[in-house]
Amino acid sequence: MEFTNQLCNCFCLALILMLGVWSSEATSRNLQDASMYERYEQWMAHYGRVYNDMTEKEDRFKIFKDNVAFIESSNNAGNKLYKLSVNQFADLTNEEFTTARNRFKGHECSTKTTTFKYENASVPATMDWRQKGAVTPIKDQGQCGCCWAFSAVAAMEGITQLTTGKLISLSEQELVDCDVNGEDQGCEGGLMDDAFQFINQNHGLSTETNYPYTGVDGTCNAKKEADHAASITGHEDVPANSESALLKAVANQPISVAIDASGSDFQFYSSGVFTGTCGTSLDHGVTAVGYGASNDGTKYWLVKNSWGEQWGEEGYIRMQRDVAAPEGLCGIAMEASYPTA
Ligand SMILES: *[C@@H]1O[C@H](CO)[C@@H](O)[C@H](O)[C@H]1NC(C)=O
Repeated sequence: MEFTNQLCNCFCLALILMLGVWSSEATSRNLQDASMYERYEQWMAHYGRVYNDMTEKEDRFKIFKDNVAFIESSNNAGNKLYKLSVNQFADLTNEEFTTARNRFKGHECSTKTTTFKYENASVPATMDWRQKGAVTPIKDQGQCGCCWAFSAVAAMEGITQLTTGKLISLSEQELVDCDVNGEDQGCEGGLMDDAFQFINQNHGLSTETNYPYTGVDGTCNAKKEADHAASITGHEDVPANSESALLKAVANQPISVAIDASGSDFQFYSSGVFTGTCGTSLDHGVTAVGYGASNDGTKYWLVKNSWGEQWGEEGYIRMQRDVAAPEGLCGIAMEASYPTA
């Protein structure tokens, strides 16, 4: 009796201990999940995110959790010159993210060559066109795949300021609605070069105020389209696959560039000099508005994006410059171009 009792006691004690370990594991897992869920809800509130129902909220939570894990492991790696952050894209898978926004149609581009007027241009050590008053505030393309229009317009705003002394915010929506040149298809994608061609044929482009951004494909408003605030004489391509040619161009005006922005690192980029990972499948149009070197000597391109001020360094990204590949980091030197005035 005594013996069995003791055995039972032992057994019970072991059972209790085991249960204790299990439950404390379960509790800590729940606590971890609960604190992640709290973080998720704070994030939702911060970015004004509202979901249709609990199912969607739970599905998005799973993606959020995975993204947070990815971001934290990248930041904790400690060997990177840039940081990622849990930004407004944290509830999107990388695939959802790239399909909605990155619609540069570069891979279908022609190989024609134009003259390059900056061939012999001198190059200052650093350049920041923002400081010269040639760059408008950061814009936000939303879920419309018209990065190409934002890229072309930023280059237009630059050359217009350089030739007239006036910085005027110009209309992306006019390009989205009215420009059916070549590859240009509003929110479904387009090319900066085709946009410059449209602006030239149209004899100008309207202001942002006159033809404001809606973020969806619309019918071309011919009256607004005819109200020109800036014009160009044409456009030129920067000789491909040469960061030194790109440097001469960016030294002289803001330049439209195409990049591969499809990676998760790009999606969650927050600060520092971005060194990749990225490929060269050009899918996004942005604008190079300067260059320089960071304190540790890493050379970079200063790039204006169109994903709002909350992404990156107040809407900008510094991308590593003078890399080993002639295409440049993320293909930045592959299809650069600019309007002429
Ligand atoms: C650059 O310099 C070369 C040699 O002087 C000259 O032949 C060429 O026309 C110049 N290019 C431009 C675009 O001015």
